[in-house]
Amino acid sequence: MGVTVLVGTQWGDEGKGKITDLITGEYDVVCRYQGGANAGHTVIANGHRFGLHQVPSGVMYEGVVPVIGNGCIVDPQILVEELDMLAREGIPTDLLKISGNAHLVMPYHKDLDGANERRLGKNLIGTTRRGVGPTYADKASRLGLRVQDLQDEKVFREKLETALAEKNPILELVYGLPTYTVDQITELYRPYAKRLQPYIVESSRYLNDAIDAGKSVLFEGAQATMLDIDHGTYPFVTSSNCTAGGAITGSGVGPVAIDRVLGIAKAYLTRVGSGPFLTELPQGDPIGEMLCEVGHEYGVTTGRKRRCGWYDAVVVNYAARVNGLTDLAITKLDVLGCLDEIKICVAYEADGVRYETVPEHQSIFYRAKPVYMTVPGWKCDISGCRSFFELPREAKDYIDLIEQLSGVRVSLVAVGPDRDETIDRHWR
Ligand code: GDP
Ligand code: IMO
Ligand code: MG
Repeated sequence: MGVTVLVGTQWGDEGKGKITDLITGEYDVVCRYQGGANAGHTVIANGHRFGLHQVPSGVMYEGVVPVIGNGCIVDPQILVEELDMLAREGIPTDLLKISGNAHLVMPYHKDLDGANERRLGKNLIGTTRRGVGPTYADKASRLGLRVQDLQDEKVFREKLETALAEKNPILELVYGLPTYTVDQITELYRPYAKRLQPYIVESSRYLNDAIDAGKSVLFEGAQATMLDIDHGTYPFVTSSNCTAGGAITGSGVGPVAIDRVLGIAKAYLTRVGSGPFLTELPQGDPIGEMLCEVGHEYGVTTGRKRRCGWYDAVVVNYAARVNGLTDLAITKLDVLGCLDEIKICVAYEADGVRYETVPEHQSIFYRAKPVYMTVPGWKCDISGCRSFFELPREAKDYIDLIEQLSGVRVSLVAVGPDRDETIDRHWR
């Protein structure tokens, strides 16, 4: 299968975990390249439902090597809890590799994430409060601690001392929060250091050696294109590059190694947290409520109810461009089976101007209105369909329309949360 990058095309929660799990069996290695425990990827395997935050969703396949790349941030507490949970479920994790260059989420990052949100008041980002923004900010400020620092307590303490010289006054004087001592955090992280030690590697070398040896690699993106720090709806974004380019910098593999870029798009649209969402259905709207209930649209990481709305073809078309998508997987098509008719946003309009791509200036994006096309629904259960031809005509037309509006072939269609509830049109 060569080297594939899998990315979210919308605002996250498109079903990346399910599709990763579905296709991982075809790869030798599966690598997360950005983000941290803000990700919540659902995998349903052997009748069990798993919510994964740090470990790649491909961990479910025995023999596939899961890698946490250098572009990720690692919360050792959450990672260790996840490894324990997988062990209890009988899922082996001994092949896991963690990049020594990945940055560590520290306790003060989580405190500062919450404090920043409280300071922003009604303008809050709606973060997952996993310390993501402050950890990436420290990486850019060259004040971060990395996974490899767990391997040398002297270095760990020195770096921590430098960091705390800045963090403690901010915690205390700006936010009125408790401070930390070097001893306190070192004690807390010592057992994690011991536990994670066997997994730490130079992951760029590992991945390149694997590719040189003819092995196949799947890069599993977290979050999504519209949450990307450069290409998303800044400032209502996460703090990493979720788009396909992030797979390069977040893994240390060169761009020409990539064969395919698979975008994951939900057949409607959801968003958690603040920020613009042009096709959002208002709170209490019966169709929005129905999508939320039928699609179980509640966050895996925070349990928050997701905002729901219509499929926005402008967003997915934009994702096709900024990621260089070669294929699309459309998920949750079954959920639309409850609707008489379906709206699809084909363009935006602002100040009398029609936009067929995401407007460059955020002010235009904020005041733009969606231009809808209405198509008939199929009003039946399609979760048993396993080939494109078994789908009702209206469902096939809906997929064809998505294909036409995105300019990318729809290779996979998911019709239910389970691994086998999927139609493979062109993937294999
Ligand atoms: P991710 O963050 O992109 O991995 O997505 P999440 O796991 O946060 O959210 C996707 C949700 O939709 C999960 O509960 C999945 O089990 C579920 N799901 C994925 N694909 C389908 C599908 O085709 N149909 C239905 N009904 N549910 C799906
Ligand atoms: P997966 O990988 C959906 C959103 C948060 C918030 C913004 C910034 O499951 O698709 P952060 O904690 O990253 O600083 O929050 O990004 N967000 C997600 N939304 N799915 C996710 O991950 C998300 N990870 C972060 O809700 O709006
Ligand atoms: Mg999710």
